[in-house]
Amino acid sequence: MCGIVGYVGQRSAVDVVMGGLRRLEYRGYDSGGVAVVGEGGLSSAKKAGKLANLDALLAEQPLPDAGTGIGHTRWATHGGPTDRNAHPHLDDTGRVAIVHNGIIENFADLRDGIERSGRELESETDSEVVAFLVQERLAAGDDLAEAVRIVCRRLEGAFTLVICDAQNPGVVVGARRNSPLVVGRGEGENFLGSDVAAFIEHTRDAIELGQDQVVVITADDIVVTDFDGAPAETTEYTVDWDLSAAQKDGYEWYMLKEIAEQPKAVADTLLGRHDADGLLQLDEMRLSDDELRGVDKIVAIACGTSYYAALVAKYAIEHWTRIPVEVELASEFRYRDPILDQSTLVVTISQSGETMDTLMAIRYARQQRARVLSICNTNGSTIPRESDAVIYTHAGPEVAVASTKAFLAQIVACYLLGLYLAQVKGAKFGDEIARIIDDLDRTPAAIQRMLDDADVVRKISAELAGATSFIFLGRHVGYPVALEGALKLKELAYLHAEGFAAGELKHGPIAVIEEGVPVFVVVPPPGRGEVHDKVVSNIQEVRARGARTIVLAQDGDDSVVPYADHLIRLPEVPTLLQPLVATVPLQIFACEYAAQLGHDVDQPRNLAKSVTVE
Ligand code: G6P
Repeated sequence: MCGIVGYVGQRSAVDVVMGGLRRLEYRGYDSGGVAVVGEGGLSSAKKAGKLANLDALLAEQPLPDAGTGIGHTRWATHGGPTDRNAHPHLDDTGRVAIVHNGIIENFADLRDGIERSGRELESETDSEVVAFLVQERLAAGDDLAEAVRIVCRRLEGAFTLVICDAQNPGVVVGARRNSPLVVGRGEGENFLGSDVAAFIEHTRDAIELGQDQVVVITADDIVVTDFDGAPAETTEYTVDWDLSAAQKDGYEWYMLKEIAEQPKAVADTLLGRHDADGLLQLDEMRLSDDELRGVDKIVAIACGTSYYAALVAKYAIEHWTRIPVEVELASEFRYRDPILDQSTLVVTISQSGETMDTLMAIRYARQQRARVLSICNTNGSTIPRESDAVIYTHAGPEVAVASTKAFLAQIVACYLLGLYLAQVKGAKFGDEIARIIDDLDRTPAAIQRMLDDADVVRKISAELAGATSFIFLGRHVGYPVALEGALKLKELAYLHAEGFAAGELKHGPIAVIEEGVPVFVVVPPPGRGEVHDKVVSNIQEVRARGARTIVLAQDGDDSVVPYADHLIRLPEVPTLLQPLVATVPLQIFACEYAAQLGHDVDQPRNLAKSVTVE
């Protein structure tokens, strides 16, 4: 979703802001813009499309040298992705420039008020009103920070705002409600960003802003208040990754790099979680053992790929703890009057920690007195901040819009939670838990094996060229893997791809199977007996109807060979850990297939990395 950068310092603000916007491109966007304030006042440039279009405009009509600037990449909500709707928005006097992420829900009323005073707004956005309202307060004599605070008190909805004033070079003001904004502390320069990637090439010292706070940055100072002007508490932290982690490192796509980083993401997420006896310790677990012993139901909430991690986790957590686990899409959760109380543990899973649907769901859950534990990949983001406990995944920054390494790390973190609950509740003996942890510790090597075998998948991708509809099947934990395989392909290749529970096939989906339709089937390890054999029967059913089968089966499982048009071998791992290896070839397939079609793998059309609107 929208990327935001603010800068005050001695360097060229256009360069710093454009550099920051490039690092934020991964969030997904459809237009970009920049504004600077120097001694000569305020100048801005904006353009629909990718940042290359804005670069071209700036090359033709350069902005003046200035040390103060703001910038934006927009993911359209109100108003199409046009030059006119791109940010920054200026008021009609040209004094104030604003960039905004979120949705201002009462913008229509505010707009009416402005228009009644005889002023004209240019865009179809909900954002532009802010520039006018701030300018009105400045004209009435307020200083910039106070003007922003007064306006924020009138706004409803979600917003990150970053604002500059033609008559105030050297100052940028930011504000946030329900939408992310972080401050980067430099030496003789300071930064604002919708996430730390905006300024990671300049500083790793960051300040987390709380809800309803306003920040004023100058080159030498950072002042944070609440919306009423009272000094506010903030949390400072050091970002634990640097620029090199957010670069492509010679890979053609971020996604390929992130797929390749999965052994490390899994190993890092497991690191330091258990002592020599295999006893688990979760340092960021802020819930006491007594509170956890009282948990009688888990509700797991997430969106997109994170939702599929929750579906995988259900099988393991129920199996290990005997606590029932409901899995719910965050966007549906609070609209169904869910049954929650103090003994419900709500587990939210989010790579970004900023997904608005998920955030709203946990706020609702906490109102209902449930405890909330978040599994998150982004330190200091809103969701873990608003949760009672957190388990961080240590996948490192994920830049490609389509989630890969975060997914595997989320599954691992959920498993750690399940085992921890089993330990606390005494649902499993210590040596059983230690054995599962040993198995988990061996998965990075198994994932590496899948990466080393990537050529098999590339070959299949080339051989399936021209197909336009794909089916993915699995049972048990293979079912969410099938869903994730289909989602990856849909996201990247823009083709019809659907995942089904293999047993459900005969109840409807089998009707779509026709000659040549590629069907991926995730086969459980042969040790699973009945469920394995049922899946092998399902392969035969689709093949008998003309499907072209791509079978993912464990090494040595020869029962599938006669029915596999293409075979992807999986290393031997326990059934519950199979998603950690079986997902990898499906990710590689989606990436290869989309690249083959000439698509931008890292920034698929219409998608955003972190969706900060409901
Ligand atoms: C977006 C992304 C998906 C992601 C989902 C949930 O839709 O495109 O890749 O899985 O949001 O994001 P989260 O940050 O909450 O895991």
